[in-house]
Amino acid sequence: MPGLFISFEGIDGCGKTTQVERVAEIIRGTGREVVSVRDPGSTRVADLVRNMLLDRGNSDIDARTELFLYLACRAQLVEQCIRPALGRGQVVISDRFSDSTLAYQGYGRMLGVELVRQANRIATAGLTPNVTLLIDIPVNVARDRRSAQMVDRLEAEEGNFHERVRNGFLEIARREPERVAVIDGTLPLDEVTNAIVDTLALRVPVMLGDVIKSA
Ligand SMILES: Nc1ncnc2c1ncn2[C@@H]1O[C@H](COP(=O)(O)OP(=O)(O)O)[C@@H](O)[C@H]1O
Ligand SMILES: [Mg+2]
Repeated sequence: MPGLFISFEGIDGCGKTTQVERVAEIIRGTGREVVSVRDPGSTRVADLVRNMLLDRGNSDIDARTELFLYLACRAQLVEQCIRPALGRGQVVISDRFSDSTLAYQGYGRMLGVELVRQANRIATAGLTPNVTLLIDIPVNVARDRRSAQMVDRLEAEEGNFHERVRNGFLEIARREPERVAVIDGTLPLDEVTNAIVDTLALRVPVMLGDVIKSA
C-alpha cells in the first residue's frame, strides 16, 4: 500500500485533536499502521521550538520570526518523521500542517498569502497532504469550548484575528476543493467523526475508503 498523508486543520477549539485520535483509531482498526503527529512538534527539535512559540512570556516574538519558527518545526517534522513514514507505506495524520501557517501568518497576521505559500513550499520541500480535513466552527463557539482551558500565547489574540484565520482557512478550501474538505465542526462529536470517515472513503477510496467501509 502506498503511504497516505492526512492533515487536520481549523481554528483552536474546533475539535482537531479529538478527531485525530478517533480517526487514527478507526484507520488502525482496518489494519493499517498510523503515525499521528502534531505540527509544530513531534520531533525533538520542533518540541523545543513549540514550547517557545506557545509560551505567553514570549509575546515579543516578531510576526516574521514566528513564521520562520513554525516553518523550522515543519521542515524538521517532514524530514525526520513524515517522509520516512510515508516511505514505509504508513498513514500519517497530522494535527495542523502548512495550511495553519497560511491561515495564521498569511491571513491572520497579514504577512502576505503568496509569500507564506512560497515559504511553506520551502519548509515542506513540496510535500502536500493527500487529503485535508478542515473542521470549521464559528469563532465564538470555539472560544466557549476553550474557556475552561489554559489560554496560551496564541489563544490570547483579539477576536478579529481569529475571524481572519477562520476565513483564511475557508478561502484555502475554496481554492483547493480537490484536496481540502470542509467538515461542520458544530455537529456532535460522533457526527463529526462520521463526516470525516465518509469524506475519506469518498476521496481516497483506493487507499483507504474500501478498507474503512468494510471495517
Ligand atoms: N463536536 C464537538 N462538540 C462539542 N465539543 C467538542 C466537539 N469537538 C471537540 N469538542 C471539545 O472542544 C474542546 C476543544 O477540542 P480539541 O479537540 O482540543 O480542539 P483543537 O485540537 O482543534 O483545539 C475539547 O474540550 C473537546 O472535548
Ligand atoms: Mg489541539
